Amino acid sequence: MKPKVIVYKKVEPEVLEYIQRTCDVVYFEGLDSLNYSEFLQELKSAQGILGSGLKVDKSLLDQAPQLKIVCNASVGYDNFDVTELSNRGIMATNTPEVLNETVADTIMGLILSTARRMPELDQLVKSGQWTSTIGEKWFGVDVHHKVLGIIGMGGIGSAVTKRARFGFDMNILYHNRSRNEEAEQKYGATYCSMEDLLKQSDFVCLMTPLTPQTENMMGEKEFKLMKESAIFINCSRGKTVDEDALVHALATGEIYAAGLDVFVQEPVNEDNPLLSMKNVVTLPHIGSATSETRLKMAMLAATNLVAGLQGEIPPTLIKTGVRVK
Ligand code: DGY
Repeated sequence: MKPKVIVYKKVEPEVLEYIQRTCDVVYFEGLDSLNYSEFLQELKSAQGILGSGLKVDKSLLDQAPQLKIVCNASVGYDNFDVTELSNRGIMATNTPEVLNETVADTIMGLILSTARRMPELDQLVKSGQWTSTIGEKWFGVDVHHKVLGIIGMGGIGSAVTKRARFGFDMNILYHNRSRNEEAEQKYGATYCSMEDLLKQSDFVCLMTPLTPQTENMMGEKEFKLMKESAIFINCSRGKTVDEDALVHALATGEIYAAGLDVFVQEPVNEDNPLLSMKNVVTLPHIGSATSETRLKMAMLAATNLVAGLQGEIPPTLIKTGVRVK
């Protein structure tokens, strides 16, 4: 008998077909208040689940007694209670690497559009206010030859570093739990303390995963250390930043601008003060959102799911301490 699995996000037909070859699939194109109880009903007998963003914690796992594997179609896995999964012997997987270049493109896009005020100028042109040569009032700041500080130098950080170094002649500082030799040797990135990075960078780019250690890691103290001319970019998770402190830093001129792909509350609340600030460029969490990359992520998640249920080691198993045959 094929193992029963739940796919709870919309995936491409080839991904679904791949899973269906070896599993009985219950498919939800997304979860909402209308189908959630049906999902919980199915969960009782499911051996695997695949999707992204769903909080997989004790209360959910208590309702999933057959579960052997949980597969995120995302690199971040802050939605997983890893300790709880590990205690129950349930495998967990994510989708690293395949999205690095795409997220790095998004980050460069945010850096450029924030520094050169592209969304504001787009509005100016479209609203018919481009009536004479653009003057100083609308000037931005240069990106090339500036100092880029990267907090969290993993695969995405390296891909950003490559672009910034070779495309924009930027000098790269980075802070990370451990040294990244590739970034140092290939792209000339310099390791430094968090404090030095914040003080010296023209662009501070946050790319750490969300963990108890990184939650609110950018707060009042950190924004105060940054240059008044500096631009802050967040493509990690909203909760790595104290959003009130960010609003304050932007409103009082402690920092110049911010480019944000992530927010504490997503989708973002319409009364979030960041939305009415001209010096903030916002994106709806689209770091990896291209058709090509999302297909690769879904296929990797599916490969993990199938491998795990066939007794193999899933290619991108998260190290939770679960023993796999
Ligand atoms: C991830 O994979 O964690 C990204 O945030 C999705 O864009």
